[in-house]
Amino acid sequence: MSLPEKVKINLPPKLMSRAPWPSSGKEVGQKFGPAKKSCESSHFFFAYAHAGLFRVLEIMHQQGSRIVYLPAFICDVVALAIRQAGLVPRYYAVDSCFRILWPSLRKVASGEIFLSVNYFGLQIDTAEVRNFCRKKKLFWIHDNSHGFACRRGAIDLGNFGDISLTSFRKVLPARNGAVVQINHPHLRALLSHDLMADRDLRAEPGRWKFATKQILRPILPWILRLPDFTQPCKPTAPSVMAYRADPRARRIFLRADRHRIRTQRRHNYRALQTLWLGGKYPFAKPAVSALPPGSSPLVFPLRIPDLQAWRAFLQTARRKRLDAHTWPTLPSKVLRQSTHGAKRLWASTVFLPVHQDLTSQELVGRVSKVADLVMTELGLRSLQKKGKRPARTGK
Ligand SMILES: Cc1ncc(COP(=O)(O)O)c(C=O)c1O
Repeated sequence: MSLPEKVKINLPPKLMSRAPWPSSGKEVGQKFGPAKKSCESSHFFFAYAHAGLFRVLEIMHQQGSRIVYLPAFICDVVALAIRQAGLVPRYYAVDSCFRILWPSLRKVASGEIFLSVNYFGLQIDTAEVRNFCRKKKLFWIHDNSHGFACRRGAIDLGNFGDISLTSFRKVLPARNGAVVQINHPHLRALLSHDLMADRDLRAEPGRWKFATKQILRPILPWILRLPDFTQPCKPTAPSVMAYRADPRARRIFLRADRHRIRTQRRHNYRALQTLWLGGKYPFAKPAVSALPPGSSPLVFPLRIPDLQAWRAFLQTARRKRLDAHTWPTLPSKVLRQSTHGAKRLWASTVFLPVHQDLTSQELVGRVSKVADLVMTELGLRSLQKKGKRPARTGK
């Protein structure tokens, strides 16, 4: 499916967050001054989602916001953007299925910002978030960075939140590219001008490096060793990567065949789900039991509670050139203090590729080869052959 050059989204009113904060046109007027009539495009392109977030937060900060509530299980660059924009990150908890744990949000100050994350395109309960934000008068940023091409029913996941962020560079072959989508009609008129100012940013260097990588992509796993994902990654960037979005990235975004991407990823996800639910590999299970309708996740999250098995899986995958990895690069404070158990969640989850240019058959073949080797390494294979129940492997 290709989209028209100018994407304009007109949501039916009941699908809007209906301004959790500001909760009515009047309050928008009070906070930002009267809303302008003009309604420019709702999509603003940035090189990176965290750079778009930074820009939005800078504007929000000027309007008096001070705090951003965000999950502790989050990428360091998100916390970086918040701090660099002059706001304070306050972390809340998510459970092992990446759902918000509401008791960790008992104390929130109204008028501040709430950031929800659509982990890997798996969807969150947007109605619950919307009601929470409305009740607490919070501005809702829906971080849909992983959710390009994902839908809830017929609705694109970028349409949720007062604004949403989608880092489409994670899915499409674009050097960079993320989009800030303003879903709130008043904010659209108010923020458009400031967000467009980022067109003056400089272009990101490294064009040829990216082009070479694209050409070599099919053989990259065989010539470059994957990182050791059992070690926490180093912080991604010292400061926000505020570059102009590559003009080609915009075109790729607008022309991408979302339907094909969705179908292929769902197909691969389902194939992996069948493999892990088959009971052949008792050391791991899918982190999320059912695939919500419309979801086409970016990766397949696998729960491996035992630390030894988790390490064995990642190291074997690395040897066998399977792009299985951990996520995220946690903010250093969260990593140090394991805020809300985020480090434990990190060290018990592996993300399997759903893409890697493989068909579902090839993907399942590669993954089962790794899983078989792990079974042997953990001594579970022989137990299984003798028909014994596997004991827990040591920590
Ligand atoms: C949930 C989430 N939000 C935002 C970002 C930032 O995206 P970008 O790298 O495009 O800035 C990431 C990065 O991986 C992420 O995982």
